[in-house]
Amino acid sequence: MAQISKPELNGFIEVVESRSDDPEKVAIQIKQALKKNKVVKLTLGFHVENLREFYNVITDRLGRAQDIAEDYAAGGAQTGERWMEIRYDADVPDMSAYRHSKNAQPLHTDESYIAEPCDVMVFYCKNKAARGGETLFVDGVELVERMKVVDPELLSELSETSVIFEKAGNKRIEKIIDLENPLQPVFNYNYYCISPNESDANKSLNRRFFEFLETHVKGSYLEHAVGLRPGESVYWWDHFVVHGRNPFEAYDTNDRFIWKTGVIWND
Ligand SMILES: [Fe+2]
Repeated sequence: MAQISKPELNGFIEVVESRSDDPEKVAIQIKQALKKNKVVKLTLGFHVENLREFYNVITDRLGRAQDIAEDYAAGGAQTGERWMEIRYDADVPDMSAYRHSKNAQPLHTDESYIAEPCDVMVFYCKNKAARGGETLFVDGVELVERMKVVDPELLSELSETSVIFEKAGNKRIEKIIDLENPLQPVFNYNYYCISPNESDANKSLNRRFFEFLETHVKGSYLEHAVGLRPGESVYWWDHFVVHGRNPFEAYDTNDRFIWKTGVIWND
């Protein structure tokens, strides 16, 4: 398993309300919250004039911010930029890219195909959809408990089999659910990013987990929606939760607009 740096995370979701527009102070609050919780949402009690500068400082204080941006038009090749846009684009065909669509997005982790993955992913919101678009989080511990009841055989296969995920020249081999530490299951999963060179058996395993999530988790009590208004942000430990997205109402390009990056955690 890749090295996952992590504090002891007993909490699931915490909302932090900032009473300061000083990103140095806010970063300390977020970092404290992320030492205990898998997901942290930041609401702002102050108007922040320059969101990019504000969130650059915050991500720098959380650890090593990674240049995660990918170019949709270039098949997902990395651009070398820190922030990647996730925005509705009326000109992009509906089913070709979740980043630019208004569709619901199935549960996944973000870094499944990245060899040196981020620990914590970051969203900040520029434009909110009129309705919908919330990020959906499922606590990995609760998901494993559910699987033990509904499909223990699938759980043991997922926790014993290494699977190759790859995209645009990046590649990673992990168990989809690593139970080495049973108190803190580690997930590595994106149904759409399994290597085309994987065995039929592993492709089938990939599909079976997708169907499990669609049938037993999607729309259930396990999903917790986190919505962002402009200026707000959310931070999550990518390997300890799976996340997806509610569909949303959008007509014009940029009706919903999120900026995303990720950091390698540094205590
Ligand atoms: Fe994602």
